[in-house]
Parts: sequence; structure tokens; C-alpha cells
Amino acid sequence: MATQVSDAAPNPVRLDRDGSVAVIVIDNPPVNAGSYDVRRGLLEAIRTVAADNTIDAAMIIGAGSTFVAGSDIREFGKPLEEPQLPAVIAAIEACPKPVVAAIHGASLGGGFELALGCDARVCAPGAVVGLPEVTLGMIPGAGGTQRLPRLVGIAAAIEIVCSGRRVPAEEAVRLGMIDGLIEGDLHSGAVAYARAREGRKRRLSEAPVPAETHDHVEKAAAAALKAGRGRPHVAEAIEAVKSAARLPFVDALAREREVFQRLRSGNEAAALRHLFFAEREASKVPGLADVAPRSIKSIAVVGAGTMGVGIATCFVEAGYAVTLLEQDDTGAQRGLERMREIQDRAVATGRISADQAQQRLARVTPTANAQQLAEADLVVEAVFEDMQVKIDLFRRLEPILRSDAILASNTSYLDLDRIAAATQRPGEVVGLHFFSPAHVMRLLEIVRAAQTSPETLATALAVAKRIRKLAVVARVGEGFIGNRIYAAYRRQCEFMLEEGAYPEDIDAALSRFGFAMGPFAVSDMSGLDIAWKMRQRLAATRDPRGRYVEIADRLCEQGRFGQKTGAGWYLYSPGNRKGEADPEVRKLIDAASSAKGISRQPFTAEKIYRRALVAMVNEAALLLEEGIAARPSDVDLVMVNGYGFPNYEGGPLFWASREDRRRLLADLDRLAEASGHGFRKGNVPAILDRM
Ligand code: COA
Repeated sequence: MATQVSDAAPNPVRLDRDGSVAVIVIDNPPVNAGSYDVRRGLLEAIRTVAADNTIDAAMIIGAGSTFVAGSDIREFGKPLEEPQLPAVIAAIEACPKPVVAAIHGASLGGGFELALGCDARVCAPGAVVGLPEVTLGMIPGAGGTQRLPRLVGIAAAIEIVCSGRRVPAEEAVRLGMIDGLIEGDLHSGAVAYARAREGRKRRLSEAPVPAETHDHVEKAAAAALKAGRGRPHVAEAIEAVKSAARLPFVDALAREREVFQRLRSGNEAAALRHLFFAEREASKVPGLADVAPRSIKSIAVVGAGTMGVGIATCFVEAGYAVTLLEQDDTGAQRGLERMREIQDRAVATGRISADQAQQRLARVTPTANAQQLAEADLVVEAVFEDMQVKIDLFRRLEPILRSDAILASNTSYLDLDRIAAATQRPGEVVGLHFFSPAHVMRLLEIVRAAQTSPETLATALAVAKRIRKLAVVARVGEGFIGNRIYAAYRRQCEFMLEEGAYPEDIDAALSRFGFAMGPFAVSDMSGLDIAWKMRQRLAATRDPRGRYVEIADRLCEQGRFGQKTGAGWYLYSPGNRKGEADPEVRKLIDAASSAKGISRQPFTAEKIYRRALVAMVNEAALLLEEGIAARPSDVDLVMVNGYGFPNYEGGPLFWASREDRRRLLADLDRLAEASGHGFRKGNVPAILDRM
């Protein structure tokens, strides 16, 4: 028997019966997000359960592939309509009959708070539970910070809430977040579980908080704050969880709600929501909906340097068989050894077992014999960044490879169209631009050359998904999305050096804005020599009318290549990665300014970061106009996930969209004027209107 709980459409909540157990089914595809309609439907269903004398217990389950994956994030940007989630949960607790949550798929955020409001929780193997609100710039707002500690203790709750991690079913059972795992049919198992409660309620709001030592809690709090980079909402989350042991339940609950409401409507939460939806958008490439990816089973990685080793590691960790090709056996074996070191570290830190490491490494075939690539479905080259080297490699490999094998290049700025044109299969050529270290960084720029076939692109996206990368598709253009924007940003930072700032001023201003590192510290870390060699190569073709800053060249002429030589933009003492400001560098910069007749002006931190950011925004506008990036949100994803742009600012374009438009454009005008000949201004207002 099914009862419609309301006449008003749409009602995604259905009340079925299994004997005396009410089965409340939430059916709100695709992920049963807890929208206004779901909350309203749930409240009505619970009221029916409470009032109906023929019902002894209830079970809540999700239709489709998941329980409630979370509150509807789209509603978080505006005032929430009644009934809100706490009212639904209060009704469950007030209901005199036990209510069991039957979880499969994901039960996250508001979805897990709903489950915590029930009298018991059971789940299917493979389910995940957690409270990811902190990753969205908020704290849980419907009792999560109060009920979870009553199950797992304050210290464990701090870790779970502040990391926002998805806790797998088995671990959740071990921790007490879930009462039982149901191996067979979840629906009937949960009904039986509800029936077996024989009317007993277990309200977590009435449960005691397990006792813990002060030290244990403070250690967890300090670790969580550090991992959360001290962000205000992380500190608020810690306080909220701690208050479970300090305040009466109702008071702590009210305080939690107040903080949740305040944070939810703040900038930081809006930025993180923007990135959440940006990630989902990025995987949608127009025209590919009906294109089936090819099956990829075996992959070859060419080049066992840092990049090649990292890339090969991504593939073996995702279960692919990988052939690692180097010029000679020693090089290939060295590559395998470096892959082993990565796995050994994962074992040492407890992330995987020694067995798992062994299985991963068993999937690698190191070789110097190109014939071994004959059966590869996909070949990824990670050889020296030089057009001719890459073209020669693909030409040499093509006669060996299967005629339909896909050729991927890891180039970070070269013209992929030229590489593709040099092959017999331009439709099967694609760029896979990994970021270093490739097995750690989540971002992957997939470069679609002019002739890349839809099937090749769909295959690249499918492989990216399997290796759990965040893929953003770019068209061909020097530096694609990320490196091109970074270059524009770097250029302005160098202009500021000449105009009056020092490297330490610029790095400090940008770190304070939230970048993981400033550009000069980054440059010292990665080394100044490669870019120097490139500038030397390009010197002959550089437009002499353009503004060119020579400071980096002067440093390189002195052998100051960064950390590896003990000096670069900063001075390094042995074994110390944190550099000191160097008076010699200041002198050199002062001399560069006076050589050009520039009278140095002071720069405030705000002036520095605004100029650097506006440079990014302008370059992003150009990239979008040229069609190299498809959407503003793609640019934000690249800069946040590949270049240390603070995620709580949402990316350069999100940041710009929140700035005063007139001030931003005035800054852009000043920047254009200072940049001199050859500077191109993008149509920034048009791009921001698309946000
Ligand atoms: N609110 C609103 N929409 C949501 C949502 C939420 N909490 N969670 C997912 N969606 C939407 C996505 O935007 C996407 O919509 P689209 O198809 O229009 O782009 C769709 O549901 C599918 O999501 P997707 O992430 O692409 O599916 P998946 O199968 O890869 O993953 C989940 C499913 C549930 C694991 C994943 O969506 C997820 O982690 N969601 C967020 C859960 C969360 O953080 N909840 C806490 C909120 S406080």
C-alpha cells in the first residue's frame, strides 16, 4: 500500500508499508538531495507514522543509487524555506516509534544528519557517510556536531567534521557511526532491523558524550586546525563539536544552527559552492554526450623522469597495466625504483598495505624495448619538453603501435596541433597535461587539438575519471589555461619588482591573500634555469618594443638557480627550504629600476595582490574569448587545483565577480598602462557577466 503524503506536486517522498513497519522512500533523483520538497515530504511522512496506530516502527531509505547524498547545495545561497532540516529531525526524535535509516550509496552532510536523527542506522557494504560541510565553508547545521560526538567521542568527531572525509561503511561501523552492516537486501534487512527494535527509541540527543582526556581532544583540535589552514569555519567547527561536552544539548544545537546560518551566507561558502558545481560542469563537454569512450586496458608511459614516474604511478594505482619505456634498461629500472619508493612511502604512512603496494608494482613493465608497446591502447609521452623530441618520438613509435592506439602528450605549453600533424593519426592525438607531482596533484588539463576526435576526447575523460583526476578540457594555445594565466601573473609580479616592490613583499602579499606560496618562492623551488634557457631561445623573436624585465636573467648569470644552488630570489642555508631575503638581490633590483629610469614607489600588500589577480583575470578573459577555455568556472578550477589559488576565494574569476566592477576595471586600466607595448586587454565585463 502506498499513500501520497501530499496532494501538492512535486512530492519526492513516498510512504509504503511492510506489515507494521512504515517504509519512507525518498525519491529525488539523481542523488536524493534534501531539498525543500524532500524536507516537507519527510515531515508529513513522520507525522503520519506518529499518528497511525497500525504502525510500530519506520524505516527511511533512498530510491535509486543512494540515500540522501546531502542537503540541496543549490538552496544554500538563499534563505532556506520552512520546514528546515532541524524541524524534520526534531519530528523524528519526537515520534514515539523507532525510525531506522537504511543507507546505501552516500549519506553525507544533511543526509547523515538525518540518519543521526534516527534511532538506528544500518548500511549496505560500499556506503559512505560523513559531514563534508567544512569543505563547503560551513559547519553542519542540523545537529551533526552534537550527535556525532555522542557516538564516536569529541576527538574523533573533530577529525571527521573538520576533514569532511567520507567514512567507508566498515570503518563507520567500527567507529559506531553506523549500527550494523546489512550484507543482503538492504530494504528487507532494514525492515527486520526496525521490527526487532520492538518499539525502543534511542535518541542521540539524550545520549551521554563519552569521556575523554583534555589532551586527547586538544591534540585532535590542533591537528584539525592545522590541516584546515586555520580557516575561521574550521575553528568554528572545532568549537561546535567541543560544545557537545560543555553545553546542554538544546543550547549547543541552537549555537550550531546560528553559526551554520552565518557561515552559509558568507563569501567563503559561496566560493566553495561555486567550485563544487564547477567540478560537475567541467566533466560536461558539449557534443560528447553520445560518444562512447574506447576501452583502455594497457597504457605505455614514455620517459621515466619525475613526470613519467608520477604519471605511471597514477595509472597503476587505478589498476591499469603500465609499460614504462626509457632509453636504456638502467633508466627503465631506475623508473621502477622510483615508483617503488612512492609505494613504500604509502605503506610507511599506513595508506596502503604492503600487499597492495606489491600488486601495484607488479602491474609495471619497465623496458627499453619499444616493441613492447605494440599492444598499448594509450601511449603517454613525458619526455623532454621540446617539439622536435616529441615529434621524433611519436614518429619512431607509430610503426610499432596498433593503428588505433591513442597518443597523448604531457606537454605543458607546446603546440599540440603541430605534434598531431606530424603523426599518421591526428584524430588520436590528445594532450594530457599532468601537474607535478603527477600522482598527488588532482588537476589534469586535457588538451583538445584541432583534429582530436570526439572518441579520443571521450576516452581521455574516461581515463581521467578512472584515475580520479579533476579533468578540465582546454584548446591549443601556448601554456593552455593554467600556464598561460600563471605567466601573465608572473609578468606583473616582475613589473612590480622594477616599480618598487621586493620579492619578499610580493610573496608575503600573495601568501596573505591565500596562495600556498608566492611566485618567487615557487620559482626558487622549481629552479630558475629552465625558464632562463627558454628566454634565451626566444630572445631573437621577442618584440623589442615590449616591456622586458631582466632581473631574473641577472640572477641566473650569477648561478642563482634557486633552492638547488642555495640562492635564487632568496638565500638558503644548507638543509633549509625557507629562504631569507637577500640584500644582494635588493641591490640588483634597485639597479635594474634605475637603469630604466624608474623611480621606485612603495607597494602596499593590497596593491600587490590586486594587480597580480587582475592580471590573471584579464588573461582568463582573453583565453575565454579565444575559446581555449570553455567556461569561466573551468579557469577557476585550474587555478585553484593546479596553482595554489586559495579555494575559499573560488578562483580568480569568482573573486573578480564579487569585486566592485568599477574599481576592478580601473585597476585593469592602470595595469594595461604600466605593461606597455603589446599588452592586450580582454573583455573582462563580458566574461564576468557569464558568471
Ligand atoms: N545538492 C545539490 N545537487 C547535488 C548534490 C547536493 N548535495 N550532490 C550532488 N548533486 C548533483 C550534482 O550537481 C550533479 O548534478 P548535474 O548532473 O546537474 O551536474 C548530480 O547531482 C550528480 O552528482 P555527481 O557528483 O556528478 O555524481 P556522482 O555519482 O559522481 O557522485 C555523490 C555522487 C553523492 C558522491 C556526489 O554527488 C557528492 O559527493 N555530492 C555532494 C555531497 C555533499 O557534499 N553533501 C553535503 C552537502 S552539505
